[in-house]
Amino acid sequence: MNSTAQKIGTPIQQAIGLLQEGFLRANGRVALACSFSIEDVAVIDLARQAKLPLEVFAIDTGRLPEETYIAAESVSQRFELKIDWFFPRTEAVQQLERDKGLFSFRESLENRHECCAIRKVEPLRRALAPLSGWVTGMRRAQAVTRAAIEPIERDLAHGGIVKVNPLYNWGDADLWDYARQRRLPVHPLHRKGYPSIGCAPCTRAVAEGEDIRAGRWWWENPEHKECGLHRQG
Ligand code: ADX
Ligand code: SF4
Repeated sequence: MNSTAQKIGTPIQQAIGLLQEGFLRANGRVALACSFSIEDVAVIDLARQAKLPLEVFAIDTGRLPEETYIAAESVSQRFELKIDWFFPRTEAVQQLERDKGLFSFRESLENRHECCAIRKVEPLRRALAPLSGWVTGMRRAQAVTRAAIEPIERDLAHGGIVKVNPLYNWGDADLWDYARQRRLPVHPLHRKGYPSIGCAPCTRAVAEGEDIRAGRWWWENPEHKECGLHRQG
């Protein structure tokens, strides 16, 4: 992307510039995909500061930790925000659980991808269908799989709509300084050693010095640790 928004100013100004540019390019409805991690809460706050009409949706996979619902309520209250929740197709979950049990994702990478496809990727497709653009809280510093994410891209996996990653170049310090300064509501699991938060059975706390995403699908290789929400092409 040949934008000046990514190069000039503080990380906060850059992130706001990217959101503004994303709205301009999308020229229609734009929503944040929200997991209620501190990244996503920071994005909501940045959009509010910039007075951008950013909508917020969340995917309830059916396996989220209780703390995520608590975080969602705090965010909703703090920002006086309506959250659009999306759920997986009932029949697909029923079939999966009947055929393979409740923990099939532990048995193979293929089974894990199947579960993520049913519980996350398909609802995401429905959430994105009416949108012209979407926003995530992804950062390059989060994982080897994210080292090359772009600040703004066309999401070819979802009909070419605009995808904005306004925090793409934020480090941990940028993020947590911002959260403190703005007194953002913090997901309770962040305080319990979870830098990255997903489904309860597939996420654990990490030890000091461990990789940010070491606690996600911890039984897999680092190169495999994506769920399909952020496919390229
Ligand atoms: S994941 O793809 O491995 O689950 P991660 O938890 O790092 O992703 O979150 C990356 C971004 O994906 C978040 O900043 C958010 O934009 C989006 N995201 C993750 N989980 C959800 C969810 N349950 N609902 C909506 N968006 C989500
Ligand atoms: Fe299923 Fe785990 Fe993927 Fe959640 S993260 S959709 S429980 S495999």
